[in-house]
Amino acid sequence: MEDRVTQARILIVDDEEDNVQVLRRILAAEGYTNVSSTNHPEEVEYLTREMDPDLILLDIIMPRMSGQDVLRQLQQIDEGALYRPVLVLTSDHSRQAQREAWAGGAKDFLTKPLSPSEVRQRVRNLLETRMLYRILREHNEDLESRVNARTAELEEARLQILYRLARAAEYRDDDTGQHTKRVGLSAGRIAEALALDPYEVKRIRMAAPLHDVGKIGIPDSILLSSGKLSAADFEVMKTHCSIGADLLSSEDVPLLGLAAEVALTHHEWWDGSGYPAGLAGDAVPLSGRIVAVADTFDALTHSRPYKQAWPAERAFDELTRLSGQAFDPDVVGAFLSVAASGVEAFV
Ligand SMILES: [Fe+2]
Repeated sequence: MEDRVTQARILIVDDEEDNVQVLRRILAAEGYTNVSSTNHPEEVEYLTREMDPDLILLDIIMPRMSGQDVLRQLQQIDEGALYRPVLVLTSDHSRQAQREAWAGGAKDFLTKPLSPSEVRQRVRNLLETRMLYRILREHNEDLESRVNARTAELEEARLQILYRLARAAEYRDDDTGQHTKRVGLSAGRIAEALALDPYEVKRIRMAAPLHDVGKIGIPDSILLSSGKLSAADFEVMKTHCSIGADLLSSEDVPLLGLAAEVALTHHEWWDGSGYPAGLAGDAVPLSGRIVAVADTFDALTHSRPYKQAWPAERAFDELTRLSGQAFDPDVVGAFLSVAASGVEAFV
């Protein structure tokens, strides 16, 4: 605290240089090292913004611009900002002058001729108060950054739990447990090829692996069925979208909100014949359109208990055939452009 007080930035404003020098000597004798001054009240606004003084010693009777005017200016600059004390110095001993200074926002008042001991005491009191405000603000900022870091950790932990839940759901029909991971990476590559900004690409890559988390709510008899599902069973199967969206929906974690969007819309079709809502075209969120392509390609090119894996070329043909029907043609185009540079990007 002591160091903070003696290193405080002090600004002296007095039109008479002799007065400035008197104050400078008093302050120097007290160990203050960071003292600036001006004889021109018009400069106070600029200096205040520039050096952010911890204390202003302000003469009240000056030509061109009075101390009162300066006080008004300072009140505007400091509106809502940290407590910045102004110590008014004047040779006007009247009560009226004092009242005006208080009303103008001065924190203390000294009459000339100045008594060095009084200057020392008032300056110290005001600076100590200012420093306590600064310490409080720093403490709050520190607290805020720690809360932010903690919140990020909690979000990460929550995501990890959900990734595991998604893997648990996936293990039931894919014992390698790699499908969700690949869909995340592929969706990220498609998003990149669509020239989304890197932050959005990252969000899609992180949200996409959760697309089928709702399968946790589908009975084995339906999920693992090797034949064609009955109409009734297919209706149950479709609910994995809304179950996933319910599990993921979050108002306070935006990434989970995106994951919920993906879970809900990754089986919508471009032409409106998908499920669960039958959305068409741009009404299907881009995240859902991207994951639809990544998910389908991955499902086609890997085996499941009920089907053989297709070679990549055949899967490309299938995506091309369904472009404009199931899939957004732009998304299929982006997928094929990445695949053209190396199919290993998706397998
Ligand atoms: Fe799905």
